[in-house]
Amino acid sequence: MKNHGCYFSSPILPHASMASFQPIFYWFAFWFCCCLASVRARPHPCEVRLSIQTVRAFNVAHRGANGELPEETAPAYLRAIEEGTDFIETDILSTKDGVLICFHDVTLNDTTDIADHPEFADRISTYEVQGVDTTGWFSVDFTWQELQTLRTRQRFSFRDSAYNDIFPIIKFEEYIEIALNASRIVGIYPELKNPVFINEHVTWADGKKYEDVFAETLLKYGYQGKFLSEQWKAKPIFIQSFAPTSLIYVSNLTDSPKILLIDDVDIPTQDTNQSFWEITSEAYLNYIKEYVVGIGPWKDTLVPPDTMNHLKNSTHLVHRAHSHGLQVHPYTFRNENQFLHFDFNQDPYQEYQFWISIMKVDGIFTDFPGSLHMYQEWTSPMKLVMGPSAVTWLDTFSKLLFSHKYKLP
Ligand SMILES: *[C@@H]1O[C@H](CO)[C@@H](O)[C@H](O)[C@H]1NC(C)=O
Ligand SMILES: *[C@@H]1O[C@H](CO)[C@@H](O)[C@H](O)[C@H]1NC(C)=O
Ligand SMILES: *[C@@H]1O[C@H](CO)[C@@H](O)[C@H](O)[C@H]1NC(C)=O
Ligand SMILES: *[C@@H]1O[C@H](CO)[C@@H](O)[C@H](O)[C@H]1NC(C)=O
Ligand SMILES: *[C@@H]1O[C@H](CO)[C@@H](O)[C@H](O)[C@H]1NC(C)=O
Repeated sequence: MKNHGCYFSSPILPHASMASFQPIFYWFAFWFCCCLASVRARPHPCEVRLSIQTVRAFNVAHRGANGELPEETAPAYLRAIEEGTDFIETDILSTKDGVLICFHDVTLNDTTDIADHPEFADRISTYEVQGVDTTGWFSVDFTWQELQTLRTRQRFSFRDSAYNDIFPIIKFEEYIEIALNASRIVGIYPELKNPVFINEHVTWADGKKYEDVFAETLLKYGYQGKFLSEQWKAKPIFIQSFAPTSLIYVSNLTDSPKILLIDDVDIPTQDTNQSFWEITSEAYLNYIKEYVVGIGPWKDTLVPPDTMNHLKNSTHLVHRAHSHGLQVHPYTFRNENQFLHFDFNQDPYQEYQFWISIMKVDGIFTDFPGSLHMYQEWTSPMKLVMGPSAVTWLDTFSKLLFSHKYKLP
C-alpha cells in the first residue's frame, strides 16, 4: 500500500525525509494532485483539503484519541484529528430501535454512567454473546432516546477521569460527519461489531439486516470505491470485522476496502467458528483476499511475548499476508507502561519503530494517535501532507497559484 500516493509513483522509501530533498517540481505536482482530487470531491471548488497520506503506515485512531478522552465520543475523534491521525476508528452497535451507534462493548457497564441511573436499574439482562452468557445493561435493550441520557466514561482507572460523565454516546452518522467536516481529508474505519448478536436482537424494516443498514449508511454519505481509487481518496474508508460472513456479505453491497480482524489464537471467529490457525492458513488468506485488502491482527499474535514480557520471534504472519498482497494493520498500541513489552525500554516510540521499520506493517491502531503522529513526523516528516503548519503553508501556496483563476476570498 505504500508509495501509491498521487505524487510519488517511483519507489521512494517511505521512511526517508522527503520534504528536505525533493525538487520543487514535486512540491508543485503534489499540490496540484491534491487540489484536483479535493476540488472534485467538495461542493465548494475553491476549498482545498489536504489529501490523506498514503506513503507511510496509516495512523488509525483507535476509538478516537481514547487514551486521553472517553472512547468513541465526538471530542475523542476531534482530538485525534487535531493530533494528525489518518483514520478515526469506531465500533458500530445498534439501539433497540435500530439506530446505529458508536460503542465498543455490547453492555453499557464499563464506559457509561448507566449504574447511576435508577430508572434503568431493572433493565439488566443476560444474553449469550459469542457463546458466553453475559449479564449487564445491553445497548440493544435501550432506545436511542434513552441512550442519549447517558454520559460516557474512561474505561481504565489509570487514565484521565476529568472528562467522565460529560460527553454523550454518538450515532454512526455523527461520527461520519465529524470526519467529513474535518479541515483535511480524514478517513473512517468502522467495525461491524458483534453482527451475529445484533442481528439476533434487533430487527429493521423490510427484513433488512444490520449489515444492510451499515452499508446503506456509508453509501448515503458517498463512501465507495476501491482502495486508492479517486473516490476512496476523497472519502477514505476501511470496513473492518471479526466476522468473515459479514465482510463477504457487505462485499455485495459496497466495493469499499475491507479488513478482516483476527482475534487471539484461542478465540474462534464469532460467525464461522473457525480457529486462528484456520483463518491464517495459506489457503484461507488466498480465499479471503478476494474480499478484503488486509488483515487486522492483535500484535501479540504477530510477535508473541514470553511469560517474562519479552518478545519472541516473529510468527511470519506479516510476511505471509504481504506475500498475498494483503495489508497488515495490527492493534492495539498503548503508551502506558503496563502495555509495553520490555524490549522497548518502556518507550512507545521504540515500539512504533519496531513495528513500522522492522515489521513493516501498513497501519497501526493506537489509543494515542498523537504519539504515533509525532513519531512519524520525527522519523519520516511529511509537512506537505498534514499538520497545522502544512495546512497554512499549502493554503497560502494554493491561493497564490489559483487566486486569479478561482477568485478565492
Ligand atoms: C453490569 O452491571 C451489573 C449490575 O451491577 C452486573 O450485574 C453485571 O454483571 C455487569 N456486567 C458486566 C459485563 O460488567
Ligand atoms: C458538520 O457540518 C455541518 C455543516 O456545517 C453541520 O450542520 C453538522 O452539524 C456538522 N456535524 C458534526 C457532527 O460536526
Ligand atoms: C451476492 O449477490 C449475488 C447476486 O445477488 C447472490 O447470488 C449471492 O448469494 C450474494 N452473496 C452473498 C455472500 O450474499
Ligand atoms: C466450534 O468449534 C469447536 C472446535 O471445532 C467445537 O468444539 C465447538 O462445539 C464449535 N462451536 C459451535 C458453536 O459450533
Ligand atoms: C529466533 O530464531 C532464531 C533463528 O531463526 C533462533 O536462533 C533464536 O533462538 C530464536 N529466538 C527465540 C527467542 O525463539
